[in-house]
Amino acid sequence: MILVLGAGGMLGKDVLRALGEKATGLPRAECDIADPTHIAKLGMGEFGRPTWIINCAAYTKVDLAEQEKQAGYDANALGPSYLSSAAADLNARVIHISTDFVFDGSKTSPYLETDETNPLNEYGRTKLAGERNILPAIILRTSWLFGAEGPCFPKTMIRVASSGKPLRVVADQIGCPTYTEDLAQTIADVVQANLPDGIYHATGHEPMSWFDFAKRAVSAAGILDADISPIQTEDWPTPAARPKYSVLSNEKLIAAGIPKMPDLDSALRRFTDRLNQPEPTA
Ligand SMILES: NC(=O)c1ccc[n+]([C@@H]2O[C@H](COP(=O)([O-])OP(=O)(O)OC[C@H]3O[C@@H](n4cnc5c(N)ncnc54)[C@H](OP(=O)(O)O)[C@@H]3O)[C@@H](O)[C@H]2O)c1
Repeated sequence: MILVLGAGGMLGKDVLRALGEKATGLPRAECDIADPTHIAKLGMGEFGRPTWIINCAAYTKVDLAEQEKQAGYDANALGPSYLSSAAADLNARVIHISTDFVFDGSKTSPYLETDETNPLNEYGRTKLAGERNILPAIILRTSWLFGAEGPCFPKTMIRVASSGKPLRVVADQIGCPTYTEDLAQTIADVVQANLPDGIYHATGHEPMSWFDFAKRAVSAAGILDADISPIQTEDWPTPAARPKYSVLSNEKLIAAGIPKMPDLDSALRRFTDRLNQPEPTA
């Protein structure tokens, strides 16, 4: 059995979908990874005796993390250390999700797993602390996630563009959009391949700016007359600084036999198809 933590989140929901009946999901209300009582239950097998635990739980509000320091630390740094000891009690392997925001963006070629980390913001610092606290585990660093199951950048772009309003989008930050459905399949492949513990980068493979990503998303949604213009980071100040370049090399994962994710056109087609599906009726 595979246990998915953070099962109510954007990635967690797609991981459950990809793993099907092999997986059981625990949303935060059932298993808060920063709550010692919940973690004690986990370690004692009250949620079952998983062979794998996939940790999709995290505090992900990048800007708010600059203020809500304790909340970010609890979920992203303390939670992984609790989780490590519960996993050891259960003799379960762990896949933990981390982020491109552990890097400062000063490189101009794709980041390797061995490159020096230097987070620019509080979220990145808590996630880096989590990586250090969770070992031994498989750590999958991903970037620029978007998915049908949560609020995300392309959903916002499509919503605003379809209302006819103009969009001004940052064009000087470069990264790789990653579709949660494709990352979820990568996670299933990693379980299947029983990869050794360590850090691996797992992202889409098309570097672009947020501006380019907005244009691709809006056109995938069939909006051809959107008014989108490029701006610079300084024109859109945010509480948390972001790396200017956070492309992650996936070569290590590919060399380990895990297939490259599908391209962005395919991802956006499947994403917009899911957005257009009618809500299931109860
Ligand atoms: N989104 C991105 O662009 C991005 C980029 C790189 C890496 N990542 C990483 O990818 C992973 C998945 O992110 P996501 O985009 O799916 O985020 P998400 O939609 O915010 O999902 C995170 C889930 O974790 C839950 N959670 C928060 N604190 C928790 C705790 N203490 N115990 C248990 N559950 C808790 C949240 O519940 P509540 O909503 O109730 O708090 C939420 O359901 C995270 O590790 C994130 O750091 C995300």
